[in-house]
Amino acid sequence: MSEQAKKPVGITETILRDAHQSLIATRMPTELMLPIVDTMDKVGYHSVECWGGATFDASLRFLHEDPWERLRKLRDGFKKTKLQMLLRGQNILGYAHYPDDVVTYFVQKSVANGIDIIRIFDCLNDLRNVKTAIDACNKEGAEAQVALSYTLGDAYTMEYWMDIAKRIEEMGASSICIKDMAGLLVPYKASELITAMKSATKLPIQLHTHYTSGVASMTYLKAVEAGVDVIDTAISPFSMGTSQPATEVMVETFKGTPYDTGLDQNILSEIADYFRPYREECLENGLLNPKVMGVNIKTLLYQVPGGMLSNMVSQLKEQNAEDKYDEVLKEIPRVRKDFGEPPLVTPSSQIVGTQAVMNVLMGEPYKMATGQTKDLLSGKYGQTVKPFNPEVQKKVIGDEEVITCRPADLLKPALKDYEEKIKQWKQQDEDVLSYALFPQVAEDFFKYRQAQQEKVDLTKADTANGAYPV
Ligand code: CO
Repeated sequence: MSEQAKKPVGITETILRDAHQSLIATRMPTELMLPIVDTMDKVGYHSVECWGGATFDASLRFLHEDPWERLRKLRDGFKKTKLQMLLRGQNILGYAHYPDDVVTYFVQKSVANGIDIIRIFDCLNDLRNVKTAIDACNKEGAEAQVALSYTLGDAYTMEYWMDIAKRIEEMGASSICIKDMAGLLVPYKASELITAMKSATKLPIQLHTHYTSGVASMTYLKAVEAGVDVIDTAISPFSMGTSQPATEVMVETFKGTPYDTGLDQNILSEIADYFRPYREECLENGLLNPKVMGVNIKTLLYQVPGGMLSNMVSQLKEQNAEDKYDEVLKEIPRVRKDFGEPPLVTPSSQIVGTQAVMNVLMGEPYKMATGQTKDLLSGKYGQTVKPFNPEVQKKVIGDEEVITCRPADLLKPALKDYEEKIKQWKQQDEDVLSYALFPQVAEDFFKYRQAQQEKVDLTKADTANGAYPV
């Protein structure tokens, strides 16, 4: 080993985004993050993932926080560490396709407010849906990382992954991420996959996985040995379970090897000490459910992400049909085949899951279809790796027109309209983007923000009048 050239593996810390999204429903508030930022900035991470994904929606909806303000505060604190976000390609952070002007403006403002690396993915791995975001990212001088949603199935051969890696490089991306949202990538398969992709592209490759199925740290070990450049980990109090492997454990694993990360365990331990009481608090108030900390072997057996399983259970509960759980589990792979074998990640996971539940409850496949199923089968999400089942497509959409172009090509620019709609609430340029993504939630937040400001003004005025002691 000592004769091997040194190849330190980079660490992306996920505590400020995916770790709390996966374990405590994205509820960590900004004020809890800020006191530890200085210490985190000393570590020497490859990057800190801190924005995008569900953080944007959850900030506005549940925490009554402006996500843009959070980003600016984090940027202020992190003097030298690169900040990273997750972007759902043409869906931005929402669930439908947005016109190019909105995508471009969102990327521009994300970079202007402090993001260095944008991880861009599409739920179908349709690269046409990440092109606008890549171009915008390059134009703003940020790093465009394209994430491939990892999944299993007949279509997903080593040739598929090698070919798509080459195409990503040709599109002008800076790096590639393999995004294993369900924890399906097992250790020896990871060796094979990384070796194959490394032979197909010169771009750095990052691996993102979840501990859900119990194999994640072994998968990282094999992937690093096969030459992966960066891995995603979470500081120990918010690691494992549906989150990522623990940062300290991976750092220790590679110590003294050619892959030594060089990170200081003493600083990492300070960070862990900081987050441990919050973990205890979340366990006590129920935000952190011990159930998500165990090994969920069903994800390996059924190849279904953990979040999708829990959604399914609550849908069945609502219909008093919990006894249909096993039937739905068996229906999922059938629906996925009918739909051209897409990866199961937001929003395709919800589309396949909800349709599977419906098929079972109605006692006949596709007797009823959701609006999203209709959209998917008419090409409105883009192209799947395999063709749709033509009989199912016919049954669901009849003679309706099927789109084969890039879905956003059919969308007209929309920023001006959004600007018009939020005129009365607008306090910063970024407000229009919050509104474009989550209209109702953003408007509620704007009202709340205004009310808070008026309250402060009122207190000031009253104090000036000597009406209230403060
Ligand atoms: Co993730």
